[in-house]
Amino acid sequence: MTEALTAKCANPCVLVIFGITGDLTKRLLYPAICNLGSKSLLDEHFTILGIGAEKYSTAAFRAKLTRDAKTFVADPQAKKFSLNLKNRIHYLSGDFSDPKLYAKVKNRLDCLHKHPNQAISYNYLFYFAVPPAFIERLATGLAHVKLLDEQQGAHARRIIVEKPFGHDLASAKALNKALLALMNEQQIFRIDHFLGKETVQNLLAFRFSNGIFEPIWNHHYIDHVQITIAETLGVEARGAYYDQAGALRDMVPNHLLQLLSLIIMEAPNSFSAESIRAEKAKALQAICPIAAENIAAQVIRGQYLAGVIDGETVAGYQDELAIKPNSNAETFVALQCFVDNWRWSNVPFYLRTGKRMKTRASEIIIQFKAAPSNLFNALGENATPNLLRIYLQPDEGISLQFNAKVPGPSLHLGQVDMTFKYRDYFGIKPQTGYETILYDCMNGDHLLFNHTDMIENGWALVQPILDAWRQSTVMPHYKAGSWGPTLADELLTKDARQWLM
Ligand code: BG6
Repeated sequence: MTEALTAKCANPCVLVIFGITGDLTKRLLYPAICNLGSKSLLDEHFTILGIGAEKYSTAAFRAKLTRDAKTFVADPQAKKFSLNLKNRIHYLSGDFSDPKLYAKVKNRLDCLHKHPNQAISYNYLFYFAVPPAFIERLATGLAHVKLLDEQQGAHARRIIVEKPFGHDLASAKALNKALLALMNEQQIFRIDHFLGKETVQNLLAFRFSNGIFEPIWNHHYIDHVQITIAETLGVEARGAYYDQAGALRDMVPNHLLQLLSLIIMEAPNSFSAESIRAEKAKALQAICPIAAENIAAQVIRGQYLAGVIDGETVAGYQDELAIKPNSNAETFVALQCFVDNWRWSNVPFYLRTGKRMKTRASEIIIQFKAAPSNLFNALGENATPNLLRIYLQPDEGISLQFNAKVPGPSLHLGQVDMTFKYRDYFGIKPQTGYETILYDCMNGDHLLFNHTDMIENGWALVQPILDAWRQSTVMPHYKAGSWGPTLADELLTKDARQWLM
């Protein structure tokens, strides 16, 4: 992960992208590849073999990707790099459910090795940019033609799998089992794209490279923690998937729990993927499962109605494309949970995420306990608790809010901020979040990827909620452009707290 910044070229590979004609490649993967290439982080023999259902010749596909790059690659140097890469892109059309396809893939890779002017690597990374139902089929097909054999470590053979990884605990376990019967854990790279975000990675640096925060990072000093991932977008063209999934499955066992585990984990022994994974897994295991009888009080769901966002009227969820009539899918979820260990005893964590909310913002807020003395109350002044805000997007940064004296003859308190913005200090160029993910995978670094146990621990925590919701049809609503259903506010007001954004 950290090497990405120090410009060491990644190990050579052929990136075989199943589903290359989909949105993911043109919007995120290909721009990320071009961003890496423009910083000399790709090996000179880096090659792409794309596989999709659509019929394209390699030449036509190269032309399509070059056109897409004009729209989706933001950085001018990266745009330029896409032209250099063009001749190293190959395309094969085929049906993923056809067992014969995998022999064709092998054959095509063999042919590429014979290409007179283009050396390619024997390291293959298979990126599954496909609907979840295909994951097992693809892995089985590749295993069948021995494309997953690492020949005792001589060549890397890795698969990269997008979320959702399963749709509940049982299916996630079954998928892990099926994949692990075909390859070993080190060959599987399960993506949570939030871990590719700069500020998310910075959480580790922030917590463990600064001596001043760790001593107060516990129940003695922290009152509570809020983690919000709010989106203004609706379900867009993903209605068919989203209506099956809902906000809980879509965001909680993965993105929100990843963020939570980075906040609550203990310091790892080293910065190795293994040490960090071990601490994150321990952290997830310490989160108390919410008992069935407490779910109604601790977990709030909601679905958006029509409303106004940024001055524009938007449709309600029921009127979005591909949504079942009277759908009971939640587009918002807020929950309160606790971590049962020494450090976090009795500290509530409030997590929330939703679509069509008032503003797009992902933020972690740590509220510290109030100052012990009420010196200022006697003066009619209120010393508000300190807040540490970690901004994940759209602006990446960190700020610390504290009280200061308002200038003037009498003593009044005002809240001020010390703010660090990534952009101001490091002049970050536009990134997709996939750069680090791809780079690490090329180098076989598992730091930002999910191990079997993280996936299963995540699903184990949300499974009781899924079970409880299946029994009930109660679905609170909220207006698009709001902060979610009022019940979500009550989740905090009952504890004399409030959402801080
Ligand atoms: C995805 C979810 O994993 O994350 C989407 O499936 C969500 O529903 C997205 O919109 C949010 O990620 P980002 O990077 O756009 O904030």
